[in-house]
Amino acid sequence: MDLSRFPRRRYSAGPTPLEFLPNFTKALSPNGDGPRIWIKRDDMLGLYPGGNKTRKLEFLVADALAKGADTLITCGAPQSNHCRITLAAAVKESLKCRFVIEERVPGSFKESASGNHFLFRLLGVEALTVVPAGSHMAQAMQQVADELAAQGRKGYIIPGGGSNALGGLGYVACAQELQQQFFEQGVSFDRVVVGSGSSGTHGGLVAGFAGNHLNIPIIGIGVSRDPADQEPLVYKLAQEVAELLGMKGAIPREAVQTVGGYWQPRYSVPNAGMVEAVQMLARTEAILLDPVYTGKVMAGLIGLHRQGFFKHGENVLFLHTGGFPALHAYEREVLGQQGRAVS
Ligand SMILES: Cc1ncc(COP(=O)(O)O)c(C=O)c1O
Repeated sequence: MDLSRFPRRRYSAGPTPLEFLPNFTKALSPNGDGPRIWIKRDDMLGLYPGGNKTRKLEFLVADALAKGADTLITCGAPQSNHCRITLAAAVKESLKCRFVIEERVPGSFKESASGNHFLFRLLGVEALTVVPAGSHMAQAMQQVADELAAQGRKGYIIPGGGSNALGGLGYVACAQELQQQFFEQGVSFDRVVVGSGSSGTHGGLVAGFAGNHLNIPIIGIGVSRDPADQEPLVYKLAQEVAELLGMKGAIPREAVQTVGGYWQPRYSVPNAGMVEAVQMLARTEAILLDPVYTGKVMAGLIGLHRQGFFKHGENVLFLHTGGFPALHAYEREVLGQQGRAVS
């Protein structure tokens, strides 16, 4: 798959590490009869602290610059990693940045909040509009673009999570990077586990794996929806990415698999599985997950393992998509009252 015809900015120095997790593997299966867990450190991408959005923004911001934009406009939840990383890209490119923040959990937006919200202010967001849950985000962002246009400025709208076909190319690039690493490190994988939200990461990866003939099942762990609602979104995005790359019709529907439940009781609200996963990875490998996405995704991996889903000796790759600054907005929930590990 040739990505070279798409303009791209570069925000990372090179490939992110692909590492085996010996201590975590042992903690999951003390008798040594379980899967071998590996990690792709996309939490170490640029626009520090980077994450999956960094890869998508390399293509989206290049498009914004090609179109002469002076302001990036995007949307997300009050602790949005996507908003924070988009703002970081804007700072790098000497652009302005505005957000529309959806208060998905009523009362969750706090002007004095820590975590990503603190970083919005430190990095210098130009303006931030808060709208209630269920608002029409595309319309709200268009309104911001219209206000800028009336002042002779030019906004570029990036959809929530950077999840459109162009943003999805970031995870086609990741698929290519992984393929090269599998070859160089001499390891073959049986499964990949990834978070599935606005779906650009999962959909882009599905398209990238199909286009590069990587026949490894990808399991998306829903962070806000169960499979009946999530899989059509991912499938649509994967098809759009494939079409952009001239591979229309190349994505089999069965390439999209997700698992539900681990995001409940609702998006961004902590649960016991997330707390266990965040504590476990911190205390076995000194790797920080986040409470909203990767903590719940790792809880999904742990849950699948306990159900006997993975076979003995299988190589399972967990894609770490970043997000740890949000931990600071959930310190009490993540540490628990005694600050002790759950397991
Ligand atoms: C840390 C992290 N992981 C995973 C996701 C989900 O990725 P996507 O929206 O591409 O499905 C997000 C989205 O904001 C995120 O911030």
